[in-house]
Amino acid sequence: MRKPEVSEELARRVVDALHRALDVDIAPAEALIAVSTRDGVDYQCNLAMSLGKRLGRPPREVAAAIVEHLEITDLAEPPEIAGPGFLNFVLRREWLESSVNALGNDPRLGVEPATEPRRIALDYSSPNVAKEMHVGHLRSSVIGDAIVRLLRFAGHEVLPHNHLGDWGTPFGMLIEHLLDEPPAGPSGIGDLNEFYQAARRKFDSDEAFATRSRERVVKLQGGDAETLATWQGLVDESTRHFNEVYHLLGITLTDEDIYGESFYNPYLAKVVDELEADGLTELSDGAVCVFPEGFHNREGDRLPLIVRKRDGGYGYAATDLATAKYWTTERGATDLLYVVGTPQAQHFAMLFAVCRAAGWLDGVHAEHIGFGSVLGADGKVMRTRAGETIKLADLLAEAVAQASDVVAERSELSEAEQREVARAVGIGAVKYADLSGDRERDYVFDWDRMLAKDGNTSVYLQYAHARIESILAKAGDPSTGAPVTLAEPAERALALTLLRFGEALRSATSAYAPHKLCTYLYETAVTFSRFYEQCPVLSAETPELRASRVQLATLTSRTLVLGLELLGIEAPRRL
Ligand code: ARG
Repeated sequence: MRKPEVSEELARRVVDALHRALDVDIAPAEALIAVSTRDGVDYQCNLAMSLGKRLGRPPREVAAAIVEHLEITDLAEPPEIAGPGFLNFVLRREWLESSVNALGNDPRLGVEPATEPRRIALDYSSPNVAKEMHVGHLRSSVIGDAIVRLLRFAGHEVLPHNHLGDWGTPFGMLIEHLLDEPPAGPSGIGDLNEFYQAARRKFDSDEAFATRSRERVVKLQGGDAETLATWQGLVDESTRHFNEVYHLLGITLTDEDIYGESFYNPYLAKVVDELEADGLTELSDGAVCVFPEGFHNREGDRLPLIVRKRDGGYGYAATDLATAKYWTTERGATDLLYVVGTPQAQHFAMLFAVCRAAGWLDGVHAEHIGFGSVLGADGKVMRTRAGETIKLADLLAEAVAQASDVVAERSELSEAEQREVARAVGIGAVKYADLSGDRERDYVFDWDRMLAKDGNTSVYLQYAHARIESILAKAGDPSTGAPVTLAEPAERALALTLLRFGEALRSATSAYAPHKLCTYLYETAVTFSRFYEQCPVLSAETPELRASRVQLATLTSRTLVLGLELLGIEAPRRL
């Protein structure tokens, strides 16, 4: 059995009391327990107001009835009834102490894995072959990877798949161009974007080349060996570029996770057959389409999901139908998640509607985890001065260079250490900027803000962690397991924050919202620094008190390290 978190435990007690007091049964989630923002109050319960309305009784009376039947003395002081009928809870010192002591050597810091693990197919990163990754793919990679880590830590099985754009008509011209002009050096195509643009220019200006390209598409789809070999070369080349970026970013995707569009090619015809047999398709302008209910354009016309084009080819939507069917039926996924920019929200909504109609989502949770755009200082989608999309590799190199300046201010580190730390700080800053805001919103890419040492930044968290590590190094004996005492308000506040780690993880995981974990880690670092200002650690009055405070510092450090790791961000010991 999972150990309940503080708010869950409070909810359970309130539910029991309500049952005894008024013979009313509610689910624990309906007990409306929330962290209190008031000084001196830890949690509050907002149940009496809504319940009062429902029962037609004054809320304060409902609150009083709950309090009268509450069995809580081991956990909290008898709650005070405030305002219209809030219950204000203050946790007992003994309970806090024994809970923090229980965290002791637990590597999971009190967070138990899910009792009913799910099998989650998660589509993320998904860049396009023969093109450089851009900042949109950065967001998908960074957010997706944090979600993978969070879900795995929560005890679920995650099946990551990288839906590479590696198929379709552009490959005709790309293959022709590669055959015309094989790369000179052994390192292959230096710049994928230039390569793509050169092929496109030829396609637009050279009629003979365009014809050859179209014929090449037919050969590719027909499985011609030479064509496939050249295509494979392009895919391998691009994958090498992507892997470089993943490696630099600490993204966990490997070649095993590649399930590009081409993978689903053998499944496409059957998907169309099945949808036709189910009577879901219609012919429209020669194309086989499904018109899912409830999707219209501004003129009120129904919107189609095109399953087979007029020329017999299959496109993006058909591939996604086959993808959904594959992961649910062949791989037994209970959840289908897609970390893709919000501009594709309608595509996924229509996709899910069609899959549901086809019966492929029975008992399956499907969700599009959308995210906003990265904007430049001018508020427009980020581009280089020449107006091109910025290459991810350049951006990350710049991040590390800028972080070197930040790190160089500290001279105690050796040059090699400085380089390593600059990498962790620079990459961490880019990732954290991507993770720390509500993912659905656009955000402005701003070097100064993301590398600031104060505020909700990874640099601040990394410094906070390194500072704690230096205190612990000075403390000598790691003294893990020393009993914690919580006499001072700042000690108590820190302990309570540490105990909320599980709650923070749960809410970040269930909403696929890494920013909730960021906010929690920031609060933890701030609470620690207040504690450190008010409670001397190394020079505490007694050895027992010193050991207790060292233990609080140790737990804080471990919380920051684990939290950052679940976001995919490194925490160097020295900064
Ligand atoms: N390759 C696409 C792009 O760059 C993203 C693919 C997302 N995944 C999917 N199953 N549609 O826009």
